[in-house]
Amino acid sequence: MSLGTFRGTVASRLALFGRWPISAALMRPSLLTPVTSVPSERLLDTALRAVEAARSVSLEELTTRSRGRGPADPGPAGAAGQSPPRGRSALARLRGREGLHSPPRRPGIWPGEHYRLLSALVALLAPKTVLELGTATGMSALVMKSALPEDGKIVTFDVVPWNRYPGALLRAEDFTDGRLEQRLEDLSTPAGWQANAELLRSADFILVDAAHTGVQERGFVRGFEQIGLANGPIVMFDDIRLWGMLSFWQEIERPKLDLTSFGHWSGTGLVDYA
Ligand SMILES: C[S@@+](CC[C@H](N)C(=O)[O-])C[C@H]1O[C@@H](n2cnc3c(N)ncnc32)[C@H](O)[C@@H]1O
Repeated sequence: MSLGTFRGTVASRLALFGRWPISAALMRPSLLTPVTSVPSERLLDTALRAVEAARSVSLEELTTRSRGRGPADPGPAGAAGQSPPRGRSALARLRGREGLHSPPRRPGIWPGEHYRLLSALVALLAPKTVLELGTATGMSALVMKSALPEDGKIVTFDVVPWNRYPGALLRAEDFTDGRLEQRLEDLSTPAGWQANAELLRSADFILVDAAHTGVQERGFVRGFEQIGLANGPIVMFDDIRLWGMLSFWQEIERPKLDLTSFGHWSGTGLVDYA
């Protein structure tokens, strides 16, 4: 390694611990790397059409439902009256991770939030069976349900029951038509994926939005491969640009597309399981 390369590497690594070049109400460190694999034609077509359709998706009803349900959502320009955390140390910034997920106050912000893209994807693919890993408040489940065909169904998995989740947006009546079901099982474990093998085989679209550790997501993907996603779904992974998710995303060998600029600011990726 030349001295110049060495200096460049050290400077780029230490940069994380110095003063960050931008400030915002919410920040996460990430890394940039060149792309090493290409998406399938199907992924490109689906993404382009979904992006176009997302432009006219309205989430007014869900925005109203989520109003006042959790801590302020900083949004792209910061929450009203909230000043960016200037001068915080790198450690404090990294410790500032939130624990439980809270509903965004403005899910309709797009790009930046991924909900309009998600709605457009579900409307476009018209899946009969949708799986979601990570219910939380139910925002994404409700978005997908509103775009689902009449004969479609969503099974959303979590380890916390929806009605015990702080700031839950879901209501009992959201489940009464049988098109939405929650299962409290962990599909990152062999017991979880085996208990739900038939469902996995029938999945037409999957949203993975759970712990974002990278370790857990490897467990989910192992389950997908072991059981076999027989319907060849498109799988959407949330938060792929988060530090813990970087190597997981890089390792995926199937055709994939990083769609972050048209999805969630923290990373949105599509993988083709056809
Ligand atoms: C980021 S939140 C999901 C947000 C939600 N999809 C939305 O957009 O409204 C992550 C959720 O994953 C759940 N979770 C953690 N481990 C899980 C697992 N193994 N399977 C399913 N959900 C899990 C957490 O309890 C939490 O509710």
